[in-house]
Amino acid sequence: MKKISIAIDGPSAAGKSSIAKIVAKKLDYVYIDTGAMYRCVGYYCLQNNIDLNNETAVSAILKNIKITMDSNNRVYLNEHDVSDQIRQDEVSMSASLVSSYQDVREFLVKQQRQMSNVGGVILDGRDIGTVVLPDAKLKIYQNASVETRAKRRFLENKQRGLSADLETIKKDIEQRDYQDMNRKISPLKKADDAIVLDTSNLSIDEVVNEVLKLAKQREMEG
Ligand code: DC
Repeated sequence: MKKISIAIDGPSAAGKSSIAKIVAKKLDYVYIDTGAMYRCVGYYCLQNNIDLNNETAVSAILKNIKITMDSNNRVYLNEHDVSDQIRQDEVSMSASLVSSYQDVREFLVKQQRQMSNVGGVILDGRDIGTVVLPDAKLKIYQNASVETRAKRRFLENKQRGLSADLETIKKDIEQRDYQDMNRKISPLKKADDAIVLDTSNLSIDEVVNEVLKLAKQREMEG
């Protein structure tokens, strides 16, 4: 059986990373959280008082950014573990904003393709099946209703000890959906050959099993 590349795209808080992490472990694949990379850029700008609306200023700081990830899915920005900090709501919004800039996308997509060159990878994001890995053997478009996504993020935030107001979370998700789907460059959209998984009424186990089944089929096909 041949290891393949798996692309999981979909809107914010659809549970992509939870699924991708489990599937990667079960298949012994490398998991790459591409959203975390956009979050690192947004976080760096916030930390260094860079005007997020100033595209030229954001482009200029990219040379100062080095992002790495370890096998425990910890994310490092210039050697500092920022895994927890980049999950804050303010960083989510900043990530969505900087992700609309061409230089930022080129900078990160190049790294994502290099990181994928290991055979047996699973990437989650917004443009994986359409732009980063258009030849991925398995493409999933994972979706869920905005109510379900807001509830899931609410519980997740609570567990992490982060601020958790359901209505605010729902509004943030809707705003990010709009930004991510309507930006000019590489907007979030389903790849023509992606399989849609609506997870509103599915448990994590059910979604994992479905993705594993599809991945094994594709591995057999080689
Ligand atoms: O998946 P996430 O919520 O961690 O992503 C944060 C933001 O980064 C998201 O709102 C849009 C952007 N993003 C992107 O444009 N392309 C990707 N492949 C991944 C994330």
